[in-house]
Amino acid sequence: MRTQIRKAPQILEVLKKQSVGLQHCKPTSSACVLDSKDAAEIAPCGHNLNSIPGPTNWPIFGSLVELLRKGGLRRQHEALIDYHKKFGKIFRMKLGSFESVHIGAPCLLEALYRKEGNYPQRLEIKPWKAYRDMRDEAYGLLILEGKDWQRVRSAFQQKLMKPTEVVKLDGKINEVLADFVNRIGAVNVNGQINDLYFELNKWSFETICYVLYDKRFGLLQEKVDEEAMDFITAVKTMMNTFGMMMVTPVELHKGLNTKTWQDHTAAWDRIFSTAKIYIDKKLNRHSGGETDDLISDIYHRSHLTKKELYAAITELQIGGVETTANSMIWAIFNLSRNPCAQAKLLKEIEDVVPSGQSPCAEHIKNMPYLKACLKESMRLSPSVPFTSRTLDKDTVLGDYTLPKGTVLMINSQALGSNEEYFDNGKQFRPERWLQAKTTINPFAHVPFGIGKRMCIGRRLAELQLQLALCWLVRNFEVVATDHEPVDAVHSGTLVPSRELPVAFIRR
Ligand code: HEM
Repeated sequence: MRTQIRKAPQILEVLKKQSVGLQHCKPTSSACVLDSKDAAEIAPCGHNLNSIPGPTNWPIFGSLVELLRKGGLRRQHEALIDYHKKFGKIFRMKLGSFESVHIGAPCLLEALYRKEGNYPQRLEIKPWKAYRDMRDEAYGLLILEGKDWQRVRSAFQQKLMKPTEVVKLDGKINEVLADFVNRIGAVNVNGQINDLYFELNKWSFETICYVLYDKRFGLLQEKVDEEAMDFITAVKTMMNTFGMMMVTPVELHKGLNTKTWQDHTAAWDRIFSTAKIYIDKKLNRHSGGETDDLISDIYHRSHLTKKELYAAITELQIGGVETTANSMIWAIFNLSRNPCAQAKLLKEIEDVVPSGQSPCAEHIKNMPYLKACLKESMRLSPSVPFTSRTLDKDTVLGDYTLPKGTVLMINSQALGSNEEYFDNGKQFRPERWLQAKTTINPFAHVPFGIGKRMCIGRRLAELQLQLALCWLVRNFEVVATDHEPVDAVHSGTLVPSRELPVAFIRR
């Protein structure tokens, strides 16, 4: 074993000399001007996938070892930023057998957006598909593809993406927020909350369930009932177990019936059985057709089967919980570290929302600083650092022709942290979004993704977060309890590396 270890550097030397599988390391330009090249159908210089620069691609492992040396998968978002600094706006990376091309420049995103087909695809989530196939359940929006994806998407599009529809949800969102603010007031010790992230997850879970099922789960009460706790635990288990099966073959886990596979399927069983109960209750109550209820309305208008509805609703619920809680925790953090911005926000809230009234969607229309605070927080501390696309046709991006099947990673965090697109990018400066003649390229800020496959919960999430900030800042001063750095670690979303050093002081 020892000899093997001693031999390893020599093997690396030989491989280096023979340049086996090594990639170009000449950086691409980081300049971002959308010119005719980006729109052309054939890359003018005829560069292909192999000429894209990237980290050293060793046989078998690719760049996995280098990534592990840079802090591993939990620090992968930082490694991606480093690679963009080193290689420019596009680079290529192989991790084991998984190869992807990374883009981190607005002009390339714009080029991709303009060339998008009717049914854009994201990277497959194989463990989820394996479960659905095994239990004969349908796929939801997160994993559907092609015409089926488009059909289900259009069934939900109007209710969830049309601003005039989404504003109608402010009453339900506020009802949960009133309980949330009471809870923060009740459970803090000297203003500090034990496991704020869990409290925020309960808040977002309670809200999305209320919006979708019209049912309060009571997660913000002192005593949470068992059924609600089982449901939230099952979602957590399902999320914690699928990552492993994304990097190792799911067929193997299924074949060997590994503990990961067992936990994953048991969690999905629980999620589906609970979701079905609530969806059926809604459909039975509104069996007559025309209603104001979200689920029944979609079911009766869209001709989705019940099976499709179950899967779509379940995935909406899963897509909306941690992402929203996570964006909220970073907004709280950024406001705690920027008291001047918080004071300005409080002033705007007090100017727009009459005392004694709850903030509502109508008020938000007149609160540009609130919207800018949220945008700036999502730029500086995004929940989702990247999304992906699998190209469904040969596509020219910048100087390169990428073949059909290429997996593209859209590095939204790398974009948001690039000084080239955001002056003093490390600073929290909501004002940058309010300048009359803003020079910010819209493709430099894509926390909800881009194009036809953009997050369908975006408007709901924004309204929820904007109202939550109004309630919190109006009721509490959010203060920093220390000024040491708080890093972000990748765990599906980018989570704070330690308990957030903040306290909520009642105003
Ligand atoms: C701040 C909160 C949220 C963030 C940061 C976020 C982020 C994202 C991102 C980056 C994508 C991928 C988009 C792409 O590939 O272009 C996505 C997709 C999706 N999100 Fe969200 N999301 C949030 C809230 C929500 C909510 C509240 C829901 C449910 C109501 C939701 C449901 C979904 C679904 C179903 C998809 C897949 C859409 C499709 O492929 O058609 N998300 N989200």
